Amino acid sequence: MRLSSTPVLLLICTLYAHFSLAHEKHRTCRNVPGNAGYPKAAAWKKLNVTIGGRLVQAVPTAKYCASLPGGTCTDAQWTSALFRSINPGSMIDGYDLKPPSLCLRNATTCGQGNVPIFSVEAQSAADIQATVRFAGYNNLRLVVKSSGHDVLGRSTAPYSLLIRTAGLQNISMTDGFFVGTQNTGPAVTIGSGVHTQTLYQVMKANGKSVVVPTAATVCPAGGYVQGAGHSALSPLFGLAADNVLEFHIVVASGELLQVNSISHPDLFYALRGGGAGSWGVIVSATFRTFPAFDETLGVIEIAASSNAAMGALATVHAQHIFDLEPVRAGQYFYVFAATPNVTSLTLQLLTHIPNTTAAQAAALLAPFRNAALALPDVSLLAEEYTVQNVNDALFLADDGAGNNMVVGSRLIPVSVLRDSPDTVGRVYEQLLNAGALECNLNDPTGQVAANANIRSAVHPAWRTAKTHLLTGSFWTDQTPLAEIDVLRKKFQTTQLPIMEQLSGKHGAAYSNEADVNEPHFQTTFFGPNYTKLTGIKAKYDPHDLFIVAAGVGSERWDEWGLCTV
Ligand SMILES: Cc1cc2nc3c(=O)[nH]c(=O)nc-3n(C[C@H](O)[C@H](O)[C@H](O)COP(=O)(O)OP(=O)(O)OC[C@H]3O[C@@H](n4cnc5c(N)ncnc54)[C@H](O)[C@@H]3O)c2cc1C
Ligand SMILES: *[C@@H]1O[C@H](CO)[C@@H](O)[C@H](O)[C@H]1NC(C)=O
Ligand SMILES: *[C@@H]1O[C@H](CO)[C@@H](O)[C@H](O)[C@H]1NC(C)=O
Ligand SMILES: *[C@@H]1O[C@H](CO)[C@@H](O)[C@H](O)[C@H]1NC(C)=O
Ligand SMILES: *[C@@H]1O[C@H](CO)[C@@H](O)[C@H](O)[C@H]1NC(C)=O
Ligand SMILES: *[C@@H]1O[C@H](CO)[C@@H](O)[C@H](O)[C@H]1NC(C)=O
Ligand SMILES: *[C@@H]1O[C@H](CO)[C@@H](O)[C@H](O)[C@H]1NC(C)=O
Repeated sequence: MRLSSTPVLLLICTLYAHFSLAHEKHRTCRNVPGNAGYPKAAAWKKLNVTIGGRLVQAVPTAKYCASLPGGTCTDAQWTSALFRSINPGSMIDGYDLKPPSLCLRNATTCGQGNVPIFSVEAQSAADIQATVRFAGYNNLRLVVKSSGHDVLGRSTAPYSLLIRTAGLQNISMTDGFFVGTQNTGPAVTIGSGVHTQTLYQVMKANGKSVVVPTAATVCPAGGYVQGAGHSALSPLFGLAADNVLEFHIVVASGELLQVNSISHPDLFYALRGGGAGSWGVIVSATFRTFPAFDETLGVIEIAASSNAAMGALATVHAQHIFDLEPVRAGQYFYVFAATPNVTSLTLQLLTHIPNTTAAQAAALLAPFRNAALALPDVSLLAEEYTVQNVNDALFLADDGAGNNMVVGSRLIPVSVLRDSPDTVGRVYEQLLNAGALECNLNDPTGQVAANANIRSAVHPAWRTAKTHLLTGSFWTDQTPLAEIDVLRKKFQTTQLPIMEQLSGKHGAAYSNEADVNEPHFQTTFFGPNYTKLTGIKAKYDPHDLFIVAAGVGSERWDEWGLCTV
C-alpha cells in the first residue's frame, strides 16, 4: 500500500441477505464498564499481577500527545508510524468514528472513542494466555494489535481489552527448519511484533531475503500474513502466506499451539489467507528465506496534464506490464491526482528488477517508457536506476501516519489486462473523474500464479490476478461527520461500479487493504470456501472471542463486535 492523504470519494451497494446462522433472536453482548459482569478493580489487579504488571491504560493518540512535555506532538511525530508505535492506544492511520467522543488533535475535549480501555503489553506467550483466558471468562471484547496499521480498523474497538504484541521481538534464523521430520530448508522465525524494517536489516546482515511488505512498520507475523501478504518479491517467491511454515498461536481456550502442515493443519490452512485477527493471538511465525541478491530499482515518474491523458498512460502501462514477466520483476504503480499546488497528475512506477544491471533494467522498461512519452500531454518528471542489495532497496525508515482514510480494493484478472488494456485506461480516467485521488497497482503474478496448488485460505483469485487495484478516500479532522459518512460509503457507491469493469461483478478484494463495508465480504475476501473457514472458526474459537469487522464469523456481531445481531 502507499496511499497518502488529501480528500476523495467512494460507497455501499447492499445486495447481500444477512448471513444468519440458526440464531435465536437472543442478543448477547460483551461486558462493558457499567455492566454487572464487567471485572471489578480487584480482578484487573489480579490479572495485572499475573502478567507481571504489563496492564496499561490505553489512550488515544491525541491524548497521549497532550500528555507530552509541551502538551502537543509536532507534525513530524503526528505523521510518524514509529512515533505512534510507542503508545498502545494509537492506530497508525486509524480514524475515530465513535462520536461524540472523538479525540482530535489539539482538541480541548477528548473521549476514548474506539480506543480500547486497557492494553496488555505482552512480552511472552504466558502473558497472552493469561489475558485470553481472562477475556473469555469475563466475556470481554478482545482485540489484538501488533503495529496498528490496519486500515479496516480491526485492531481497535470501543470498551475492549487489547493484547498488543509489539513487544514480541524475537528473531532467529536457521539453515534447516524442521516440520516434523522434514527439513524445509532455510527459514526465519519472528515474533509477531517484529517490524518489516527490522527484518530487512537482519536479512541483509545474514545474506538472505524474505517475502515481506513494502513498508517500515507493518508486522509480517501479525495481520499481514493472515490476509495473504503481497510483496515486491511475490513474482519471484509467491505471497507471504505461501512461504510461512509454522505459527505459534494462543487460541481462545488459552492453549499455545504449534501450527504447521502436520500439527493443526486446519488452523494452518485458515491462518494463511483466512483473514487477520479471527483465529487467536500469533506469538511467532516462521518464514522460508532465500539467498539475498542485488536488484535494480527503477523509478519512473511521468506527469499527465489531464485525467484523459492519465487514462491513456494507464492503457500503455497495461500493454507493457507483461514486459516484466520474464525477469519476475515486482512493480508498484501509483497514480496521484492533481492537487491545488501540483496541477498535473503524476504516475509513479517503482520497479524492482532482480539480478540486473542498471542498463538492463532501463532496456527492460524502455518499451513502456518510450510508448508512454510518445503520448500527447505527458512529460517525464524523473527517471533513475539504482543497483543495490534487495534488502536496501525495500528498506523504509518509517511509514506515514495520521491519515483519516478508507480504501477499496479489487484484484484484476490477467485476462483483462491482456485482452482489454483500453478498458484499464478508461477505468482510470473514470476513477479520476469520480474524484479518486490515488489508484495503486502492483503486480503479484509469477510465482503467485505458480503456487495455485498450495492448499490454503488464500483467495483463489490471487492466482489469476495480474494487479491489485486500490483506491482511497481521505478526510481531515475538521471534516463534518455527515461528510465522513459519505466518504466511507464512496467505494461501494461510486468507485466499485467503475472498477467492476475490470474485476467483474463478483470480483475479489485483498482483505488487508480493502473496504471494511464490503457487503459480500465472505466471498469478496475469502472466495468460494467460506464455510470451510466458518467450520475451523467454530472448532478453535467456539465463542467468537476473536471477532474483527468483515472477518470470519463477524456476520453474527454488530459493527463494533459488542453484541450479537
Ligand atoms: C504503510 C503500509 C504499507 C503496507 N504494505 C503492504 C504490502 O506491501 N503488502 C501487503 O500485503 N500489505 C501491506 N499493507 C497492509 C497490511 O498488510 C495491513 O495493514 C495489515 O493489517 C497489517 O498488519 P499488522 O499486524 O501490522 O497491523 P495491526 O493493525 O496491528 O493488525 C491488523 C490485523 O491483524 C490482527 N493482528 C495483529 N497482530 C496479531 C497477532 N499477533 N495475532 C493475531 N492477529 C493479529 C489484528 O487483530 C488486526 O485484525 C500495508 C499497510 C500500510 C499501512
Ligand atoms: C499494573 O501494574 C504495574 C506495576 O505494578 C503498574 O505500574 C500499572 O499501573 C498497573 N496497571 C494498571 C492498569 O493499574
Ligand atoms: C496542533 O498543534 C501543533 C503544535 O502547536 C501544530 O503544529 C499543529 O498544526 C496543530 N494541529 C492541529 C490540527 O490543530
Ligand atoms: C524469545 O526467545 C527466548 C530465548 O530463546 C525465549 O526464552 C522466549 O520464550 C522467546 N519469547 C517468545 C515470546 O517467543
Ligand atoms: C500548497 O500551497 C499552499 C499555498 O501556497 C501552501 O500553504 C501549502 O503548504 C502547500 N501545500 C503543499 C502540500 O505543498
Ligand atoms: C541471481 O543470480 C544468482 C547468480 O546467477 C542466482 O544464483 C540467483 O538465484 C539469482 N537470484 C534471483 C532472485 O534471480
Ligand atoms: C475450495 O473448495 C472446493 C470444493 O470443496 C475445493 O475443490 C477447493 O480445493 C477448495 N479450495 C481451496 C483453496 O481450499
